[in-house]
Amino acid sequence: MSTTTRPLLQIHIGSTRPQRIGPAFAAWFAAMADKHAMFEVEVIDLAEVDLPFLDEPHHPRLRRYVHQHTLDWSATVERADAFVLVTPEYNYGYSAVMKNALDHLCHEWADKAVGFVSYGGIGAGTRAVQQLKQVVTTLRMVPVLESVNIPFAMKKLTAEHKFANDADADQAAMLMLDELARVTGKLRPAKR
Ligand SMILES: Cc1cc2nc3c(=O)[nH]c(=O)nc-3n(C[C@H](O)[C@H](O)[C@H](O)COP(=O)(O)O)c2cc1C
Repeated sequence: MSTTTRPLLQIHIGSTRPQRIGPAFAAWFAAMADKHAMFEVEVIDLAEVDLPFLDEPHHPRLRRYVHQHTLDWSATVERADAFVLVTPEYNYGYSAVMKNALDHLCHEWADKAVGFVSYGGIGAGTRAVQQLKQVVTTLRMVPVLESVNIPFAMKKLTAEHKFANDADADQAAMLMLDELARVTGKLRPAKR
């Protein structure tokens, strides 16, 4: 975990299918986080991480990982101080790939703030976020109240598949970043 520089915020893209729109919202949020300037920012694409379905023989709390892909994923998550999970909503829930990524590890997630950028139809992905909160608290992550929920997401992308110029979303992003920074400021010294 970084201690001497600005805290590291990892933005995880939770959709992996071809034609997905998740990366557009991750890129927009990363730009907002850069503007906010309280965090170092890293975007993690679960499509590139490409974890198999959980294939470790031991419970992750033991950290007795036997596969290189899990050791690599452990090192990636360990270095973060806070997270933003960019989540689609599939059948009123979040993506299986995100659950798989969370389940692979245990201590690496703990005592770190987490926020959500969700997107979808009229529900704006909020049902996926409610489900995710139950999972992340089991991993001892600390979800912040503020969140970014984008309704009718498909209609909000430009011809170049970019998300931009949404003042409400920009404001919600800044409020969530303020809260992530506040909570990380309390958790990070304790973890150190
Ligand atoms: C399998 C599947 C289930 C979906 N279920 C929902 C849903 O429950 N609620 C919703 O708002 N949108 C739903 N959608 C529409 C998604 O919001 C939309 O396809 C979005 O682009 C998915 O994110 P992605 O492109 O990053 O994968 C669903 C899409 C798929 C492919």
